[in-house]
Amino acid sequence: MSSPAPIGIFDSGVGGLSVMQKIRELLPQEDLIYFADSAYCPYGICPPELVHNRTLALCDFMVSLGVKLVVVACNTASSASLNKLRELHSIPIIGMEPALKPASHITKNKRVGILATGVTIAGERFNSLIKRYANGIKVISQPCPGLVELVEAGETNGEKVDQMLKLYLDSLIKENVDTVVLGCTHYPFLNPVIKMIVGDGVEVIDTGEAVAKWVSQVLKKEDLKTSHINPGTERFYTTGEPEKVQEVIAKLWNSSRQITVKHVVV
Ligand code: DGL
Repeated sequence: MSSPAPIGIFDSGVGGLSVMQKIRELLPQEDLIYFADSAYCPYGICPPELVHNRTLALCDFMVSLGVKLVVVACNTASSASLNKLRELHSIPIIGMEPALKPASHITKNKRVGILATGVTIAGERFNSLIKRYANGIKVISQPCPGLVELVEAGETNGEKVDQMLKLYLDSLIKENVDTVVLGCTHYPFLNPVIKMIVGDGVEVIDTGEAVAKWVSQVLKKEDLKTSHINPGTERFYTTGEPEKVQEVIAKLWNSSRQITVKHVVV
């Protein structure tokens, strides 16, 4: 058995595209639907109840489009609602969490820095992640207000990005971390600048690829892979201003194909 239905991927804004890129690389024939909840972005400074309600609504919308699997390509939304989503829906729901487990294997000096949003860092899921994997490891969590907004504006380099990243990474560098986890899906778009600031001796971990591999394994296990042989398509939706969002998505998605972003009220 196989399924031609699309995979649904969503985030507060354009950050989840960093995950979608890895899914596209690994699963070129699958049809993908991306949803940017731009009218409510950034989630990282919203009350957790609002993030929870948005996440539930977006997942319902995805399911109404007939997706066969949902990727919550947002650490903040996953931290607020993953368990509830799995209770409510029978299709596979895959979420994100800061890659503390791989970081605990990679770090040599047992000092790991995590960049994430305030909601993710304050969440119970994050707390339990630390309890499970931070045995003997010093974890320095750094919230990064303002970074998501820069990526949302399509700014992935330049003076503002440098200044803000230096400010946030400075506290991790001072703590002598040898591993930095990108705990927000917007941050991989800033990776070249992050790597430049932390230098060669520090490993920077992005979870997008691991999530894409997990999606592929789940599709295989559930017999849900498409049997199409043509390249898969992409559809984009937003609750924000479609022209603005389209411009930034076109820049970050970086495909030769013309993209169109449709506005919906969810
Ligand atoms: N991209 C998101 C994450 O992974 C959400 C960032 C935000 O909206 O604050 O956490």
